[in-house]
Amino acid sequence: MNGSETLAPTRVLIGLDALGDPGAASIVLGRGSARRDVLIVRSGGKIRAFENSCPHQGTPLETLAGAFFDSDRCLLVCSTHGARFRPGDGLCVAGPCAGQALKPVAIELSGGKVLLAGEPS
Ligand code: FES
Repeated sequence: MNGSETLAPTRVLIGLDALGDPGAASIVLGRGSARRDVLIVRSGGKIRAFENSCPHQGTPLETLAGAFFDSDRCLLVCSTHGARFRPGDGLCVAGPCAGQALKPVAIELSGGKVLLAGEPS
């Protein structure tokens, strides 16, 4: 396989037992033009997923692996310029992109796992 080929997305993103509450993880799928970085978030028992791309400048939220939450573990933080996002809907409530939101990713829960919705198994 060379660098221009793409990998089919994996439908299973992560097991629920790998996420705390609050907890978050980023999962990179595919490569090249098919590459996706999906942020899975659990907060208050609810699971959401977003494209891991800050609406301010498009960087992934985390600089350090696994560092997604503020010190109170209530809001997601973009480590590039400090934007704060609600984990329930991805809305930016403070920072340079206030009023914008993380792009949601459709997911399903099945068998204790988080799956991409609508993707082939
Ligand atoms: S890139 Fe996220 S706050 Fe600037």
